[in-house]
Amino acid sequence: MTAVRSGALVFYGATGDLAFKKIFPALQRMVKAGVLDVPVIGVARGGWTLERLKARAQASVEQHGGGVDPVAFPRLMGLLRYVEGDYSAGSTFEALHEAIGDAPDPVHYLAIPQSLFEVVIEHLGRAGRDSGARLVLEKPFGTDLASARRLNAAVHRRFDERSIFRIDHYLGKEAVQNLVFFRFANTFLEPIWNRRYVENVQITMAEPFGVKGRGAFYDQTGAIRDVVQNHLLQVLSNIAMEPPPSSHDTETLRDEKVKVLKAIAPLEHAQVVRGQVRGYLDEPGVAPGSSTETFAALELAVQSWRWDGVPFYIRTGKSLPVARTEVVVKLRRPPPIAGVPLVANHVRFQLGPEFQIALGASVREPGERNGGHPLELLASHDHEGAETDPYAELLGDAMRGETFRFAREDYVEEAWRIVDPVLRGGPPPVTYEPGSWGPPGAQALVPGGWFEPGGGRAP
Ligand code: BG6
Repeated sequence: MTAVRSGALVFYGATGDLAFKKIFPALQRMVKAGVLDVPVIGVARGGWTLERLKARAQASVEQHGGGVDPVAFPRLMGLLRYVEGDYSAGSTFEALHEAIGDAPDPVHYLAIPQSLFEVVIEHLGRAGRDSGARLVLEKPFGTDLASARRLNAAVHRRFDERSIFRIDHYLGKEAVQNLVFFRFANTFLEPIWNRRYVENVQITMAEPFGVKGRGAFYDQTGAIRDVVQNHLLQVLSNIAMEPPPSSHDTETLRDEKVKVLKAIAPLEHAQVVRGQVRGYLDEPGVAPGSSTETFAALELAVQSWRWDGVPFYIRTGKSLPVARTEVVVKLRRPPPIAGVPLVANHVRFQLGPEFQIALGASVREPGERNGGHPLELLASHDHEGAETDPYAELLGDAMRGETFRFAREDYVEEAWRIVDPVLRGGPPPVTYEPGSWGPPGAQALVPGGWFEPGGGRAP
């Protein structure tokens, strides 16, 4: 059954940071691509006017959207409406009801703190706007397993799962989707994609900057909640999942990802190294003596037939030496030839800032002796501007009623189940220097060492 296209896009938090950095640029892009031509209603409680919101939209696309598009931007301004009001007041939703009119299956995008989700959802339910309406929920979805379960229950009181779109912008990234494509579209990979050939899998998300003025939010969150529970477990699922059955059921892909998480035991403190960058405690909004981690490295085991005994390592942090999100699947080292040791091969997926897929081989130049040297064969690389805008992609999906690129209820709960035990208690984070690769314990986690992003060193 083809879903109805949404007749309106409502976004809450219209005057906020996310709207400024991500949503307006995505909306301009959607208009430009011809996928957005219905009323776009911003809702906020800032005492703003439509004119002020339009000025904000312009500043947003200038700073974060590659500039004002002479055709798309005026069109977007023609579609933009503004509803002012408190999220706890019924009158806000009456005004919204008016603005939506008869538009079918409107999308309600809650780009607001999750503490406000329930009150907005209750009002939408009461105002009768939940029939046919679609609910897009910004991450984080819950702060631990118990709160995610509570939130799921609250959302389900008014909306069924087919109308719920839990955003993880990594699922809208071409490079992340391509992990699945590259694996299953290339027959030569499948025979080696298992415990017999793979020694370990290393997932790195390194950011060279700090918390960028988001101290108050980040201090309540930390690296594990901010990016491991969502983005990086999604990446791991794409690497480890079984091929979905070739039916037209769009749920099969999400089923396979959930199966990966189900095969992972809850983390123990000994499997995690937490770090805090020097200087973090001086950031505005950070509590004195905070023990929030700005770095985490962890080891996970996927207890399945395919992956038994293969460690999956994840590391991420703020103020690291480079900007790089990358997955390295390290293959087992071949035995020495005539006593000469050889290096291990690998498959490397660089997911950001550029997109690359590379195969790490060992080669020998004419005249070269001994073990030769490692060389990466690029299988695929970024074409300038090829990366699409994840927010535009995902909002476009929600407007078409397509849920498969969003996190399903069971997926988010499984992901929280894995990280839940290390969210509280445990040893305090170890201080690391800005520009380093985190605490020394993180290096020691991987026997044989991490593949060094940008360093070109074979693992
Ligand atoms: C966000 C996190 O979800 O993802 C940020 O809250 C992080 O802390 C960001 O910097 C990274 O996203 P991207 O697309 O730049 O890799």
